[in-house]
Amino acid sequence: MTRIFSGVKPTGHLTLGNYLGAVRQWAETDQYRADALFCVVDLHALTVEHDPARVRRLSRQAATLLLAAGLDPARCTVFVQSHVDEHARLSYLLECTATVGELRRMIQYKEKGTQAQAAGQSVRLSLLTYPVLMAADILAYGTDEVPVGDDQAQHVELTRDLAVRFNQRYGHTFVVPKATHPKVAARVMDLQEPTAKMGKSHETTAGIVYLLDEPDVVRKKVMRAVTDSGREVEYDRAAKPGVANLLDVLAACTGGEPEGLAAGCTSYGALKKDAAEAVVELMRPLRARHAELCADPGYLDGVLRDGAARARAMARPVVDAAYRAIGLLPAG
Ligand code: AMP
Ligand code: TRP
Repeated sequence: MTRIFSGVKPTGHLTLGNYLGAVRQWAETDQYRADALFCVVDLHALTVEHDPARVRRLSRQAATLLLAAGLDPARCTVFVQSHVDEHARLSYLLECTATVGELRRMIQYKEKGTQAQAAGQSVRLSLLTYPVLMAADILAYGTDEVPVGDDQAQHVELTRDLAVRFNQRYGHTFVVPKATHPKVAARVMDLQEPTAKMGKSHETTAGIVYLLDEPDVVRKKVMRAVTDSGREVEYDRAAKPGVANLLDVLAACTGGEPEGLAAGCTSYGALKKDAAEAVVELMRPLRARHAELCADPGYLDGVLRDGAARARAMARPVVDAAYRAIGLLPAG
């Protein structure tokens, strides 16, 4: 059976981008068609300046939202990365496989490193090695497919390179995975800055729709979205990025095609109104389920405990095999 692995970082509240680009696909198709693991990758939240209590809170919130979005613990494994030691164990072996040069070339490292420096902060070493830990997350489970938004394509490419290199040097150990992306909304853009990705840790929040935003807040944010000059509703990502983003969101929410929907919209105002209502409707059941789950924190604890136990049992033999293959002496 196909093995799927994917994850979400608890660095901020989950956004519409996370949902349309990744989580929805996990809940609607992936968990039914494959042996799937979905992980709150908390170790990855420590690569930039962080507040310990906030990371803890956001980790629980992310896990709760994954369940609210429809991940069913009877069908897939939902767990927290730091509960399974194998990720960090394998990461070190992959650090011995990767090169400094290839990590320095990662786009996210360049972007976030520059941001940190501009803010007068030092760059944590883990920001550079982060894609190696991500590769360990994926390779520890013999993963075939990694469903992610577009922004993660380069990291999955690196994961493939590391798997192939390790296998060539030390014998076949890892499955070589591939990334999968949704057909529409693989990159939802910021509503205020439609040439930048909607990212959960951005400083200005007016262009970011959070999954837990109240319906009226969602409406306000979408109605105030930056559009483009002209009046014609056309799907042209280069010339009209703001309008194209709204069409992508509307298409992803309603199941239509962005080009076809453009023809049906008479004005920018009408497009915004349709998009706002579509997002509110899509989020409604998720918000309701989130409230129910919050009323029973013991349930989440149990799900995460079972998830970690299942994940550990899957990862352990793979990581042990990698330790042997690379030349480490087995412990008695
Ligand atoms: P992150 O928030 O970086 O932990 O991302 C979790 C998942 O959501 C990854 O698969 C990302 O590719 C996806 N994702 C994050 N932001 C967006 C976005 N704006 N559009 C589409 N997918 C996204
Ligand atoms: N780097 C991913 C992101 O920023 C999160 C992530 C960490 C991940 N480990 C992963 C995604 C393994 C897929 C598979 O979104």
